[in-house]
Amino acid sequence: MVARIEGISKYFFIRHNRSYFLKERAIALLKGNFREKKEMFWALRNINLEVKRGEFLGLIGPNGSGKSTLLKLMAGILSPSKGKIFIEGRVAPIIELGVGFEPDLTGTENIYLSASLYGLTKKEIQMNYDEIVRFSELEDFIDVPIKNYSTGMQMRLAFSISLSIDPDIFLIDEILEKFQAKCFEKMEEIKKKKTIVFVSHDMHAVKMMCDRVCLLVKGKILDEGPPEKVIDSYHKLIAVEE
Ligand SMILES: Nc1ncnc2c1ncn2[C@@H]1O[C@H](COP(=O)(O)OP(=O)(O)O)[C@@H](O)[C@H]1O
Ligand SMILES: [Mg+2]
Repeated sequence: MVARIEGISKYFFIRHNRSYFLKERAIALLKGNFREKKEMFWALRNINLEVKRGEFLGLIGPNGSGKSTLLKLMAGILSPSKGKIFIEGRVAPIIELGVGFEPDLTGTENIYLSASLYGLTKKEIQMNYDEIVRFSELEDFIDVPIKNYSTGMQMRLAFSISLSIDPDIFLIDEILEKFQAKCFEKMEEIKKKKTIVFVSHDMHAVKMMCDRVCLLVKGKILDEGPPEKVIDSYHKLIAVEE
């Protein structure tokens, strides 16, 4: 076992009345009956999942089904509303706004910051620096604050840093752009030794690379098992929705 998720649920508060027209809002305030409604929204409901050492697990499902939320919970960026998560070893989240990224700092500064948060010494970072920049293909942007990076660029940097910190678990949210092919190549290499949880809409890639797949729909696990079977469930689900 490298990760165990036990009865995890996660809710967010969604605010209503926010888009009230100013006039309506003013009248409501004057009348004293303006109340901002907050509604609980359950993004994940009672998720149970175990990821084994060396496993390559695919996470698929329609938009908004809770895939990114589940990765953020596993990364410890969000805390669960209910349930428990056990993780053994070092986690590298390759998600939007990578862990420890500071928007106002440059790519280079963020490499140093992020890698040091993972426990690398300055010397180790210096030794890995060129390779990180080269793999991310961000040479021309490495001195630009990363708030000016696209999501894809941020993920490239996060992926490249993660390769040099030797984590036990990679949590990879959808990787965009051309960079995907390069990451897949690297992941083929990594997968022999590491545990990977991989979110993707690319069913071809999921089928090719994953040992096991989990289908998440509206915050619940609808199916789980061998890639072919679960991808088939996903296609049936989409066909019904269309
Ligand atoms: N911080 C948040 N506040 C409110 N709602 C959120 C937040 N993060 C995610 N959600 C909602 O939770 C649901 C699941 O989101 P997400 O995990 O991003 O789905 P997916 O990655 O599968 O597309 C969506 O409906 C999304 O709008
Ligand atoms: Mg997502």
